[in-house]
Parts: sequence; C-alpha cells; structure tokens
Amino acid sequence: MACVISVASGKGGVGKSVVSANLALVLARKGKQVVLADLDVGGADAHVLVGLLNPPITLTDFLNRRIEHLDDLAQCLSIHPNLRIIPGTGDTLATANMAYAQKRRLIRNFQNVRADVIIVDIGAGASYHTLDFFLMADHHVAVATPDPTSVLDLYRFIKLAAIRRVLSMFMMQDVMAEGLANRDYSSVEEVLDVAGKTDESGRAFAETTLRDFQPSLVLNRVSGRARVNVPQLKKLLKEYVGGDLTLLGEIPEDPAMEQAVRAYVPVVQHAPSSPAAVALAKTADALAQLLRDASTQAA
Ligand SMILES: Nc1ncnc2c1ncn2[C@@H]1O[C@H](COP(=O)(O)OP(=O)(O)O)[C@@H](O)[C@H]1O
Ligand SMILES: [Mg+2]
Repeated sequence: MACVISVASGKGGVGKSVVSANLALVLARKGKQVVLADLDVGGADAHVLVGLLNPPITLTDFLNRRIEHLDDLAQCLSIHPNLRIIPGTGDTLATANMAYAQKRRLIRNFQNVRADVIIVDIGAGASYHTLDFFLMADHHVAVATPDPTSVLDLYRFIKLAAIRRVLSMFMMQDVMAEGLANRDYSSVEEVLDVAGKTDESGRAFAETTLRDFQPSLVLNRVSGRARVNVPQLKKLLKEYVGGDLTLLGEIPEDPAMEQAVRAYVPVVQHAPSSPAAVALAKTADALAQLLRDASTQAA
C-alpha cells in the first residue's frame, strides 16, 4: 500500500501546491512511483504546475461516480514516467458540500491507488474536510511562510488537527464517543479534561494520541528579513498541543519559483540550480529519510 503524505496550511497562497509538486517530482526521480493528488477544495491547480493544462478527467468524475476507482483518475505526465496526477475538482460547490459518505469513499479509495508514495495537496484552512484529508495520511506536512499571520494560522491549524485526531481516535474506539464529539473545543486541554472526566483511561489515551501526532513543517519564502523562530513555535506546540513539530525544510524566496509556475514545470526541473530548487531537493531528501525511518520502525 502507498505511503500517503498530506500537505496542508493554515493560510492560502503560502506555496502548498508548488511544494507538493516539487517534492512529488524529486521523489519520482529517486525511483519511487509517485501520485500527486489534488484535494484542494477551493483552488485545484496542481495539474497546471506539472504541465497538464486541461485534464480530461478530474476528481469531479470520481465524485459523480462516472469513474469508480480513484486510481483510474491518476494520469501520466510528460515530465516524468514515475509521476502521475489526480487532478482536483473545479466544482468547488460539489466538493464543499461533499457528503460524509462521499468523503469516506474518497478517503477509502486512496488505499487502492497504485503507488509507492501519494502526495496529497490539501486546501487551506481548517474545515472538517480539510482536517480529515490532512489526517488520513501517514505523514503530515504543514507549509507556512514567515508572515506572522501565516505562523498564527499554522499554529491554529495544527491545534485543530490535533483535536480532531483525538476525537476521531475516540470515535474509532467507541469509548464515550458521543459525549466527546458533540461539543466545540477551543483548546487541546479542554479535550483532555473532558476525556479524563468521561473515562478513567481517557486522558492517558488522548495524551498518547497527541504525542504520536508529529507533523513536519516546511517554511516557504524565507528571506534574510523574514524568518521564523522555529524553536519557539516548537515549544508552543509541545506545550499546548502535545506533539513534536519537525522542521523538514526551509525554501527561500526566489523569483525562479514564479518563473517555473509560469512555465508549467516544477522549479526543480525548470531551474535546478536556483536556490529554491536546491532547497526543495534537500527537503525531498529529508522526506525520503523520514519515510525510510518510518518503514524500519514499522518492520
Ligand atoms: N519560495 C517562493 N518564492 C517566490 N514565490 C513563491 C515561492 N513559493 C510560492 N511562490 C509563489 O506563490 C504562488 C502561490 O503558491 P501556491 O503553491 O499556489 O500556494 P497555495 O497552494 O498554498 O495556495 C506561486 O504561484 C508562486 O508564484
Ligand atoms: Mg494550492
């Protein structure tokens, strides 16, 4: 079964799609069979970044059941024989209103996609759909820029994802699921409190679930002036969310990135020696290492 990597962000426009497309291409070049899947509800555009301007079939065809299997949507790309794309839906409304059963079918279908790695480009924000797509993965990557609002949105996003992760773990266990789920939580501590009050082992279970949630961070558009205090952010997340955040890579602000977007080719191919391309290749190396570590741990 493929290893699923979800790429999300609190705020839109931070570079999720360009990061996803470039990581997908680098992993494909390393010999992995890669599928780039576009689940961005509001702005499906990943296909354009890898040179497929008019996809003949998209996620809409899967959601409307014109196509039964998600794998049949994965289309070959001329940029690399190991890379395929599942183009997103242009039907924002249909997707935004996606029924629960439809979402389950979509998430379940990822198990049957033939690939070593699936990189899922997910919309910005913290709607339930976004959070569930983010959480369905084996590895979670969050993208942010050094812009203070982006960092704040990242923090909020990870916190909400952690809360949703704990709640869905409880749902699966069926322990006190109802009492826990039918509430609105604003902090992780609140979830832990309710979990602890409802069930003896609830708090410990929730804490373990939180500790196991270890998203990776990619900082994009970093420059001499615009940086992020990563140790402080990690500390904040550790303290208030529980899990560890790992810095996977830092991509500099680089005009080559925009030029590549306009050329419909990922920057690692369009301008391989540009600072952004070099940083993305390094980030993909770190990601490949993470996947190797995870598979040795699982073995
Ligand atoms: N490191 C960077 N340097 C310069 N421009 C960038 C960089 N990363 C992204 N961009 C620009 O930002 C735009 C938005 O990126 P995109 O990946 O579409 O964002 P998102 O998917 O998060 O909405 C890109 O089209 C590109 O022009
Ligand atoms: Mg995008």
